[in-house]
Amino acid sequence: MEKKTVLTGDRPTGKLHIGHYVGSLHNRVKMQNEDSYNMYVMIADLQALTDNARDTEKVRNSVLQVALDYLAIGLDPEKTTIFIQSQIPALSELNTLYLNLVSVSRLERNPTVKSEIQQKNFNRSIPAGFLTYPVSQAADITAFKATLIPVGDDQKPMIEQTREIVKSVNSLYGNILVEPEGVFPPEGQGRIPGLDGNAKMSKSLGNTIYLSDDEDTLRKKIMSIYTDPDHVHVESPGKIEGNIVFTYLDIFGEDKEKIKEMKEHYKRGGLGDVTLKNYLFDVLNEVLLPIRTRRELYAKDPEAVYEMLRVGSEKANVRANKTLQEVKSAMGINYFNK
Ligand code: TRP
Repeated sequence: MEKKTVLTGDRPTGKLHIGHYVGSLHNRVKMQNEDSYNMYVMIADLQALTDNARDTEKVRNSVLQVALDYLAIGLDPEKTTIFIQSQIPALSELNTLYLNLVSVSRLERNPTVKSEIQQKNFNRSIPAGFLTYPVSQAADITAFKATLIPVGDDQKPMIEQTREIVKSVNSLYGNILVEPEGVFPPEGQGRIPGLDGNAKMSKSLGNTIYLSDDEDTLRKKIMSIYTDPDHVHVESPGKIEGNIVFTYLDIFGEDKEKIKEMKEHYKRGGLGDVTLKNYLFDVLNEVLLPIRTRRELYAKDPEAVYEMLRVGSEKANVRANKTLQEVKSAMGINYFNK
């Protein structure tokens, strides 16, 4: 049976955090290890540049950081093709062709882009490349004829727009592209609140736990979590609802029985915040320790990481060029090849 193709990726604008991990990273490692997929994971530096064109250094550095995070979580270059978006010229060509099939008003309706525009305070000076990045994302996905896209919920609108572009291309030029589907985390499990209680963990809000945080940093961050402001005495009853420590425990803790007992104890009174947070530290550190250790190992040899990315990009180029040629032939703009 032919393997299904999976494609996904991240914008390199910093290191990856546990929000990324629960949102989609751990889904990807799972899919990789099932061995029934042909997996591509892309570091989307072109997409990162759409709102960081004045800080190319940040994007460049983040490419290496994200690659290290990928290797650290267990993506294996022997099984998964890891590559850099900007090194695949076919993606930009497809983007140019697809841009003609999408209206400006459709772009302005994309809810994720819309909320990013607000969050980033672009006002009237939205970079054109930013507004159109969902089209470039459609190029990424279709170039590999990927059918499965493991991403966080915020990427639903991108997949929707990709499907529309696929339909346009197929109806105008012939049945060339395939419609992708998103692979999302289970209901209610794909999002982790920030350390400050904000519904979203994000770098720009400064409320993240990075996969690469050392033990000291991890402990400090956990100790800074806001629990229940009324829980001033150990012996007084505490609240579970909106208590981020329990939210994190629910997501990462394996020992559900113990967590249930701790919740009861906390509600009754007598379980102190420091004890509770120490337990969360143990739970999170158990998840992050192997990731951190592997990351440190790879970080010692950035040349080898770049070499891995070069090899991956070479493979990705072969695949993407093939699709590009098919699209150009179908459009009749292949003047010199038969
Ligand atoms: N938009 C994704 C993000 O915000 C990154 C991305 C770019 C991507 N191209 C993609 C994800 C293709 C999946 C498929 O991180």
